[in-house]
Amino acid sequence: MVSDELPEIKIPPPGPRSCELSARLLAVESLAFEARRGARAATSGAEQSPIVYASGRGSNVFDVDGNRYVDLTAGFGALVLGHAPNAATEAARAVMSDLPLALGDVYASELKARACEALASLFPERGARVMLGLSGADAVTCALKTAVLATGKTEVVAFDGAYHGLSYGPLAACGLAPGFREPFAAQLGIEVTFAPYPSRTDSHALEASLAAVRAALKSGEVGAILVEPMLGRGGCVVPPASFLPALRSLADGAGALLVLDEVWTGMGRSGAMLACELSGVIPDVVCIAKGLGGGVPISACIGRGEVMEAWGRHGGSAIHTGTHFGSPPACAAALETIAAVRGGLAARAARVGDAFVEKLQEVRLGGVAPWSARGCGLMVGIELESAAEALGVSRSLLARGFIVLTGGKKGDTLTLSPPLTIAEELLTAFIPELVSAVAEHRRSAPGPRESW
Ligand SMILES: Cc1ncc(COP(=O)(O)O)c(C=O)c1O
Repeated sequence: MVSDELPEIKIPPPGPRSCELSARLLAVESLAFEARRGARAATSGAEQSPIVYASGRGSNVFDVDGNRYVDLTAGFGALVLGHAPNAATEAARAVMSDLPLALGDVYASELKARACEALASLFPERGARVMLGLSGADAVTCALKTAVLATGKTEVVAFDGAYHGLSYGPLAACGLAPGFREPFAAQLGIEVTFAPYPSRTDSHALEASLAAVRAALKSGEVGAILVEPMLGRGGCVVPPASFLPALRSLADGAGALLVLDEVWTGMGRSGAMLACELSGVIPDVVCIAKGLGGGVPISACIGRGEVMEAWGRHGGSAIHTGTHFGSPPACAAALETIAAVRGGLAARAARVGDAFVEKLQEVRLGGVAPWSARGCGLMVGIELESAAEALGVSRSLLARGFIVLTGGKKGDTLTLSPPLTIAEELLTAFIPELVSAVAEHRRSAPGPRESW
């Protein structure tokens, strides 16, 4: 295994080479990204100019100016085995020189057969069937289509704060912020009811959430309850233990499918291969992506055999497929990742993640908890006082050599999803840097807890 190292910042980020490359990119890529940086700078008063990555190794990223960082984001949670080289990228690289592409759903490769068998075996019930894709949004799209075919019903229940990808089906169910959906509302088509997502720490939230789901199911037209077992982009919110079992029984009572979006929680990230194992709930369909390829794009929609039979009853054509779906290199990568996560990485994520969250929760400044830390496995949210503070602190952490993202419905949470292989010393080293970044921010923008 590649050994992880502490950060080394030689030039304050972003250095000159990062600035030059970012300016070149800005001239040609979507203006939405610069608009977001501008909005974030206005909210936080903190500089948002990006660094540019040169390479990655284990849990470290090197930028084009020669700085070494600790990567607590792992490519939005996808690099579960760390940056290259890892078993998945090496397997994909080897297959790339033999068979970069077979012929999708017409003539498959041996690797596709083996990957689908391995994926079907991840499902908590025998007889599951698998449909492959490239992205999380592909897997969720496939799940939404499955619900229509299997139930004949087109409405969907989704949740506030949820994120399922931005292609049209998943976008309609995006509860993170209405702004994602609004410009395209006229083209979205799917009738989606959003229920509140309950947090484990709020005793009234569960009943309010389930009441909203029950009300939506009364239409009799709901074919899918689409839910993340734990909110990812929504701020690493962990629901009460009885949430998924309650949704299971509501779905059963209404003849709807329970679709679990495990794009972020799956592949060991939550401390189990699939987060649904933690609650003992068997979904009708589960979506996996991100970590599945260990950095190589591949996703899967896996469903109970009985539910997936609906695809075989539809008119004799391959109505959901894609040129690159199930490519041999991606399947080779998925096989390696599944083996590694099964081989102990999920259990490691549970142990290391629990210890990390515990240490974060123990921190007190002047007797006051400086944040609220939560998580499951190596999916950790650190809720600060505001979006402005989260953005300011994330930039200060970058300058100290730690890469983090901000998330949550209000943008006030640092969301950490490091490689499942990360050396524990790096997580330990992060905590004093976080303390000092938060303290520095609060000194320069004193708020209600000036006492410390
Ligand atoms: C829970 C969840 N579902 C779906 C997606 C969409 O995945 P992708 O960006 O690969 O389309 C994401 C991405 O962050 C996610 O977190």
